[in-house]
Amino acid sequence: MRRISIGILCLMAIIMYSSPLVVAQDDSKTKSQGSDGTICIPMGNLTIKAPESVTPLRTPVDFPHSRHFSQSCMKCHHTWDGNSPVKTCTTSGCHDQVDVPKNPLKEGMFTKEAMKYYKYAYHNQCRECHRNLKNQKKRFTDSTSTTADTSFPESVPTGCVECHPKG
Ligand code: HEC
Ligand code: HEC
Ligand code: HEC
Repeated sequence: MRRISIGILCLMAIIMYSSPLVVAQDDSKTKSQGSDGTICIPMGNLTIKAPESVTPLRTPVDFPHSRHFSQSCMKCHHTWDGNSPVKTCTTSGCHDQVDVPKNPLKEGMFTKEAMKYYKYAYHNQCRECHRNLKNQKKRFTDSTSTTADTSFPESVPTGCVECHPKG
């Protein structure tokens, strides 16, 4: 796994308010929204860890946030309205449950209740998207199609140790 950890820089640009402002802030680790309505977006690698009350079975996951910006922000930040501060995934009431839910599936899909369990939420987002991309790529390379505008990422992790490297 590549480790380019350049920490959390603070960039703001994309989200423009009534009075567009570009400011550099150095408090990005604690604040994601400045008092003037600007939003800091962490760039480079984020490290996603299990919540503190959990004794993890696996190593934390490197997440190259900015390499995902070809995807819609709302794909992952699915409750974000584009203006308010971005909530973290484990915000209270979101995906903050740490106990494995009973009967998590209904017709082969995780129930809404089960998705409160942080692990299911992450796996369902991260791994599912990567799997879909891999499947699409495979279908494309297996086919005889010569469509030129189809480009797939070189590598998207789908195996356990690709995301949770051996400790
Ligand atoms: C695309 C990346 C990705 C893949 C692939 C992946 N995981 Fe995860 N997993 C995560 C993320 C992100 C979390 C939440 C952060 C954390 O707890 O480490 C997580 C959480 C977990 C947790 C709960 C925390 C812990 O360490 O106990 C377990 C267990 C786990 N994964 C096991 C697996 C296993 C087993 C596989 C393979 C079958 C796997 N993961 C594949 C990204 C991934
Ligand atoms: C592939 C999923 C994904 C995409 C796409 C994505 N993000 Fe994120 N983003 C995350 C994850 C995961 C975190 C870490 C959240 C956490 O700590 O719980 C994060 C963190 C953030 C944070 C910091 C939140 C905080 O308070 O710590 C901001 C702000 C943010 N993203 C903005 C954006 C914007 C703007 C876009 C679109 C340009 C975007 N993100 C695209 C997954 C994504
Ligand atoms: C909506 C689709 C989507 C989601 C959701 C998503 N990814 Fe990705 N991921 C991608 C794409 C596309 C790439 C390739 C980007 C590139 O090559 O620049 C990628 C690349 C990566 C890489 C880099 C692999 C390498 O070989 O360097 C890692 C690590 C990664 N994702 C982890 C995650 C984790 C962890 C999550 C969940 C927090 C996540 N991704 C969620 C689409 C997604």
